[in-house]
Amino acid sequence: MSHEKLETNIGLMGLMIVIVISFGGLAEIVPLFFLKDTTEPVTNLRPYSALEMEGRDVYIREGCNTCHSQMIRPFRAETERYGHYSVAGEHVWEHPFLWGSKRTGPDLARVGGRYSDEWHRVHLINPRDVVPESNMPAFPWLEEKYINSDLTAEKLKAFKEYFDVPYTDADIAGAKAAVDGKTELDAVVAYLQSLGHALSDKR
Ligand code: HEC
Repeated sequence: MSHEKLETNIGLMGLMIVIVISFGGLAEIVPLFFLKDTTEPVTNLRPYSALEMEGRDVYIREGCNTCHSQMIRPFRAETERYGHYSVAGEHVWEHPFLWGSKRTGPDLARVGGRYSDEWHRVHLINPRDVVPESNMPAFPWLEEKYINSDLTAEKLKAFKEYFDVPYTDADIAGAKAAVDGKTELDAVVAYLQSLGHALSDKR
């Protein structure tokens, strides 16, 4: 086929462009399906406890992820500030992912263990009590609302059945009791303290 034919036929040209571009895409995407370290959990990864799972749902409901990413990039400026860069194997049981890219506040991928539970409680009720210059909104109602424990076991079960998260029957049987009487604040703090546990040097 002469090149002139290609250059004067917009339909053919479009088709060829799509084919050429898709090669680039395929070369980047297809190997990911076969690389073990993008689909296998890292050694120390454990599933979220029932309380952490509920905390994560509150985190999503309150839109914390619209201001906080959970994705440390492999650059010096990031690893010096936040710790080990994020790896795929830490996130294999996350549904949905909360990586994000917008950082109104700091990245939280490894915030677990950085502060005490009490610090988080005070901070969430009114951030300015511990960080005077903070412009993070206050979430005082988290302390007053109790977790609805009726669906907790179902949530763990769904993660086990659909996403192969290794919850045991005991985890599922004990899920309701584990969150009964806990406030949303308890749950969010538990969730925050779990973040980054698999690769953190702090816990
Ligand atoms: C409007 C944007 C915004 C929202 C929404 C938001 N934050 Fe923040 N957050 C910030 C900013 C800005 C900071 C830095 C100042 C500070 O520490 O208060 C911060 C700091 C933090 C820190 C301390 C991080 C560190 O390494 O020092 C934690 C933990 C945190 N936020 C958790 C949350 C949680 C949990 C929620 C949802 C309940 C939330 N944030 C919602 C903006 C936000």
